[in-house]
Amino acid sequence: MDKDNYKGIILAGGAGTRLYPLTKIVSKQLLPIYDKPMIYYPLELLIKAGIQDILIITTEEDLDKFKNLLGDGKNFGINLDYFTQKKPEGIAQAFIIAEKWINSSSVVLLLGDNLFFGNKLEMTIKSAIEKNSGATIFCKEVENPERFGVVEINDELKVLSIEEKPIKPISNYVVTGLYIYDNLVCEYAKSLNKSDRGEFEITDLNNIYLNKKRLESIILDNSFSWLDTGTFDSLLEASIFVKENKEFF
Ligand code: TTP
Repeated sequence: MDKDNYKGIILAGGAGTRLYPLTKIVSKQLLPIYDKPMIYYPLELLIKAGIQDILIITTEEDLDKFKNLLGDGKNFGINLDYFTQKKPEGIAQAFIIAEKWINSSSVVLLLGDNLFFGNKLEMTIKSAIEKNSGATIFCKEVENPERFGVVEINDELKVLSIEEKPIKPISNYVVTGLYIYDNLVCEYAKSLNKSDRGEFEITDLNNIYLNKKRLESIILDNSFSWLDTGTFDSLLEASIFVKENKEFF
């Protein structure tokens, strides 16, 4: 698929309840990760992957802060737009909110609190965008899979199933917060029902692609680091990681 026809979305809303009181008056994605606000990391990753049109989805109360910080994107050499999500009703809601903005493009979605590092990262994402025909997810082996969407993979690294926050995870491989979708994503997202926890689940969306045999997965090996900054410890760990690896990026 033509990478020029790709747009990027950074989902930077949410409640951030696990980081209270840090996130009581400041959005999680504006908290510092060593020397930059968190949102800079997903933004710079999308830019490095060659995406020129980026939409930031945040909450109504945080909208002006993001606009003050990042402006229209000219300083970064890109176009930035902003939409709001009234309530945190799920990651897949991004595609319902952004349908008109996405228009006829394909999309890379990145969660605003997910940090990815690795020498081969840029190349891996660019090549995945070029090859994508349907959806592509990026998976990583972790020690606490029950907090995430857990994937069952076969010997050929094909995804057989994805289960959201299972009590008994089938593997240690989980879906990270970086996803590539073709233009059908909005149509599929609109067909979703809310889950028992009241969210439009990204796992349900990925399962639509999986059931249609249109889902590819890329396993990020140990040469990639993936940090989800949703807890006090992971937030601190991310700052230390950036400080200690500054020379690599
Ligand atoms: P989560 O970490 O699942 O949720 P959260 O940020 O609200 O935190 P907590 O669980 O502590 O209350 O969200 C992952 C990312 O996705 C994060 O960057 C926020 C974003 N998000 C939204 O913007 N809207 C949503 O509806 C959801 C569920 C998440």
